[in-house]
Amino acid sequence: MAREFTRVGVVGLGTMGAGIVEVFARNGVDVVAVEISEAALARGRATLTRSTDRAVAKGKLAEADRDALHSRVDFQVGLDALHAVDLVIEAVPEHLDLKQRIFAELDRVCRPDTILATNTSSLSVTDISVATHRPQQVVGLHFFNPAPVMKLVEVVRTVITATDVVDDVEALCARLGKVDVTISDRAGFIANALLFGYLNHAVSMFEARYATREDIDVAMKIGCGLPMGPLALLDLIGLDTAYAILDTMYRRGGRDRRHAPVPLIRQMVTAGLLGRKSGRGFYTYEKPGSPKVVPDEQTPATTQPATDGASGTTGVGGGTGPAAVTRVGLVGVGALATGLVGAFAMAGYEVVSVDGDVEPSAGISEAVRASLDEGVARGDLGAADRDTALARITWSATLEQLADVDLVVEAVAEELSVKQALFARLDGICKPGVVLATTTASLPVIEVAMATQRPADVLGLHFPDPTTVRQLVEVVRTVRTSAEATVTAQAVCTALGSATVVCGDRAGFVVNALLFPYLNDAVRMLEAGYASVDDIDHAMKLGCGYPAGPFAVLDAVGLDVSLAIQRALYREQREPGLAPAPLLEHLVTAGYLGHRTGRGFRDHTGR
Ligand SMILES: NC(=O)c1ccc[n+]([C@@H]2O[C@H](COP(=O)([O-])OP(=O)(O)OC[C@H]3O[C@@H](n4cnc5c(N)ncnc54)[C@H](O)[C@@H]3O)[C@@H](O)[C@H]2O)c1
Repeated sequence: MAREFTRVGVVGLGTMGAGIVEVFARNGVDVVAVEISEAALARGRATLTRSTDRAVAKGKLAEADRDALHSRVDFQVGLDALHAVDLVIEAVPEHLDLKQRIFAELDRVCRPDTILATNTSSLSVTDISVATHRPQQVVGLHFFNPAPVMKLVEVVRTVITATDVVDDVEALCARLGKVDVTISDRAGFIANALLFGYLNHAVSMFEARYATREDIDVAMKIGCGLPMGPLALLDLIGLDTAYAILDTMYRRGGRDRRHAPVPLIRQMVTAGLLGRKSGRGFYTYEKPGSPKVVPDEQTPATTQPATDGASGTTGVGGGTGPAAVTRVGLVGVGALATGLVGAFAMAGYEVVSVDGDVEPSAGISEAVRASLDEGVARGDLGAADRDTALARITWSATLEQLADVDLVVEAVAEELSVKQALFARLDGICKPGVVLATTTASLPVIEVAMATQRPADVLGLHFPDPTTVRQLVEVVRTVRTSAEATVTAQAVCTALGSATVVCGDRAGFVVNALLFPYLNDAVRMLEAGYASVDDIDHAMKLGCGYPAGPFAVLDAVGLDVSLAIQRALYREQREPGLAPAPLLEHLVTAGYLGHRTGRGFRDHTGR
């Protein structure tokens, strides 16, 4: 029989503690909620009130239930109030000496049978436990932010934690409606070990002005389907907390430079820019504690490029306004080219599709027709729209037909020599001022641009997910790309219905540079035997709200493709932490490439 927890204590009512109080009180458990001062107690109470009022307003909590929830919480200053609780969860700032002091004090104040849990993100639970005389009753209970919403709890068992204590807290998690994964005491456990390198890297991109804060966040939200972008997430976590977590992970986790906090984080903490809780972090909020972002000096002007396709233009040569684009040339025969021909035609452009000149003919016209037919069958477009779109397409077997287009997008084989030869030919065929775009995912765009005499007109258009070309495009600017070419490309992509982000010409651009190292880290974690494929996928889905865990993503993308991207990132940055995980290399060598071959990290045969 699992132990009954009828009264628990929560120490520290900040970003996490207030949410943890809510989780318990919502589930019928009495809570003694403790803070260090009356002022901090009032802040904690206000956070709980705001959160439950929001739940009532959204219809997720009845008013009577909210009142009952509040009646279960006893707000107190000082740890002495915890003398009669069954379990304490500590959620004070991420500093070992502070947590050790609190645990020593809890050991003195609490009943001998009370279980003591820490919500630490990165500190050693073992180090915290030895500050007490009951280390076998100390466990990590790592909730995720926001605690009332995120389903995951990481239960951290040290080498000395008693088995029945682990069993009891696991049963408690189930009673709270949470899903737990039980793991040993390693820096960052599962989720933060995979998350914080990514967050830190996003800050370094922002610090280096590689892309704007909005573009970095939009790229990861739309490009990967994440619930929020990395900079918005750091604001939610709190930059002081994030700094402490990174600092600890760097020191405990093998001094991986990717965890050394980016200097900007420290500067922002010093300046009091802590994120939502202080009203300003990477973004500015309506007031401290508010989730509502308000415009500030970094907010981009709302003047969007033309949005109505072929007709919406402001003329060539008008400063940095977009050039007129009515005719688009597409070179290539694969899935991306097929998707793009259909998408441009649907958006109202005249399209010239070149099939069979650069690459062997692959019947792209049938493929485009089939994909538009599928759209009609799904009810996404009408038969008349399909026919109008098809009538806008000219099928050509020679590049010479591109002499009068306003934009060329190439989606041929991912080989530098092939692309360079193509761009050299386009240079001789296309009229001056035309934007020439490559869809390369991994080659330096500047190498392609320099095959022409007009590198200012060349840029990258990277579609992170070729199956949904309309969702996100990374507009890649080289050191030679003109502002006009960039805004023209942005305007066209907006007309396609895609979100656009502008970034520099570095391996992986924004999305892949941030995504693949995280996937590679997940493989390393698996390889180290720390957690299983299922536990790691669960942790990222339920703890961070990701639409799919890293192994599901790797199997879908293809392990060979993932390895090639990771190798390109490693080659460019020479960062030891980016070296492809040996397990990934071995699986590729073994022919386990994911869905495509029926087996990758999981076996997909017969499912
Ligand atoms: N912020 C997150 O997203 C997140 C997520 C999971 C886990 N955590 C972990 O939760 C813990 C708390 O982080 P946070 O972000 O909520 O911090 P926070 O700074 O928002 O809140 C900490 C609270 O602890 C209180 N406090 C400080 N000293 C105290 C004492 N002696 N007695 C009682 N209360 C005291 C402070 O007044 C403050 O309200 C950390 O260990 C952190 O790593 C944070």
